[in-house]
Amino acid sequence: IVVQSAVKQEKQVSSKSTPTDLVTETDHQVEELIISTLREKYPTHRFIGEESSAAGVKCELTDDPTWIIDPIDGTCNFVHSFPMVAVSIGFAVRKELELGVIYHCFDGTLYTARKGHGAFCNGVRLQVSKEKDVSKALILTEIGAKRDPATLDIFLGNMKKLLSAPTHGVRIIGSSTLALCHIASGAAEAYYQYGLHCWDIAAAAVIIREAGGHVMDTTGPLDLMSRRVVAAGTREIADCVVKQLQPINYGRDDTDPDDLA
Ligand code: IPD
Ligand code: CA
Ligand code: CA
Ligand code: CA
Repeated sequence: IVVQSAVKQEKQVSSKSTPTDLVTETDHQVEELIISTLREKYPTHRFIGEESSAAGVKCELTDDPTWIIDPIDGTCNFVHSFPMVAVSIGFAVRKELELGVIYHCFDGTLYTARKGHGAFCNGVRLQVSKEKDVSKALILTEIGAKRDPATLDIFLGNMKKLLSAPTHGVRIIGSSTLALCHIASGAAEAYYQYGLHCWDIAAAAVIIREAGGHVMDTTGPLDLMSRRVVAAGTREIADCVVKQLQPINYGRDDTDPDDLA
């Protein structure tokens, strides 16, 4: 509701690590609201939030129960009123992801999952695509705020390889969490990104796994802090996508607090 009403109003936009890394007062407001509400209910739990991390709070995943929050995923979309904006909340215990909730602020769609209990969209069970043939796959990706020529060359080279693999197509919607929800619902076969953060993936990883899909690091099992992910309905598609990719190097979330694009 905070995001929905703020969309229609004049926004206070500033930039963080780069001119394309935007933040608004609503990002801060939503994160404070989520953390204060959860902290009141769970005073011993820890919190990782995008804007708290940007403000210097250590981004550290311990064995303690931890909420991992992206208050507005798709801030650039939010600034432009482009209707792909979400709030994402994941919950981990002993570093294992247990819960994921993602709310699409424009259409009110709510994606939820709890480990071992399935994934749902507005209460309807989600199921990933069973497609194994990459030539019939729709692939999603995102580019982060890093836009130097070398990064862009690798990014575009990866897209070119996937387009000519061939695949049915490659899409960028401007919200990692909603793109990942499309993998959970079977609307697309695979997602990959270099440079995303733990708050972009935590909630979505539970939702995709509970919908029957695979979420991995491009180099092995999922590492929430590695800034690399590939998610797919089937292992076959995930492997085919990874084979096409040239990696883009980013610092880890837990050791590189200055790079919070
Ligand atoms: C960003 C968006 C964007 C993706 C970036 C993310 P934010 O999240 O999901 O699509 O390319 O990597 O950081 O900053 O809007 O929460
Ligand atoms: Ca995000
Ligand atoms: Ca955000
Ligand atoms: Ca951001």
